[in-house]
Amino acid sequence: MVFLSLVISYLIGSISFSYLIAKKIAGIDIRSHGSGNAGATNTLRVLGKGPAILVLLLDALKGLAAMGLAHWLTDGHALAYALSGLFAIIGHNWPIFFGFRGGKGIATTVGVALGFSPLAFLISVVITVLIIAVTRYVSLGSLVLVTVLPIFLFVLGKDPAFIWVSVVLALFAYVRHYSNIRNLLSGRERKLGEGSRPLK
Ligand code: G3P
Repeated sequence: MVFLSLVISYLIGSISFSYLIAKKIAGIDIRSHGSGNAGATNTLRVLGKGPAILVLLLDALKGLAAMGLAHWLTDGHALAYALSGLFAIIGHNWPIFFGFRGGKGIATTVGVALGFSPLAFLISVVITVLIIAVTRYVSLGSLVLVTVLPIFLFVLGKDPAFIWVSVVLALFAYVRHYSNIRNLLSGRERKLGEGSRPLK
């Protein structure tokens, strides 16, 4: 059942909502616009607030749905629960339905964080929102989110499976944000509101 729940989680994660919504609304491949990322931030950049909020919610829901399913399939097995969240993120980043070209996993991580601990989720998200509000760099906020999440899970005494899986998901996020980190260091990273005008 653990294997089954990981496979289903990967498939759930592979539903690229930014791709589907951008195709539906504007008839475009989101991956050929803005930063080229299939995620909520790029949806905001290319299509505006409404579609971006929808993508954020649906992508976060993927993480929660995968974990809920794992909880049910494995009778509350903590490692299977945590790994299912990670597999949803892997699906989001490398979706089987969309040529393995997906997003950077942050919105799905937000859902997974909620599944790990509502309190750790809340503190991490508040810090992230503050960083984005002050610096206007979504990528910096995203990197801080994945960095502080394992720390808060540890401080709150959560299951070690949650802590270790959140460390691994942070590593995935760093890898996926390679170009953002390079741009942040060279001062070329796009700030919130900068970049292409929304198409619609
Ligand atoms: O969650 C993705 C965000 O951190 C960066 O997205 O499109 O600016 O590369 P983007």
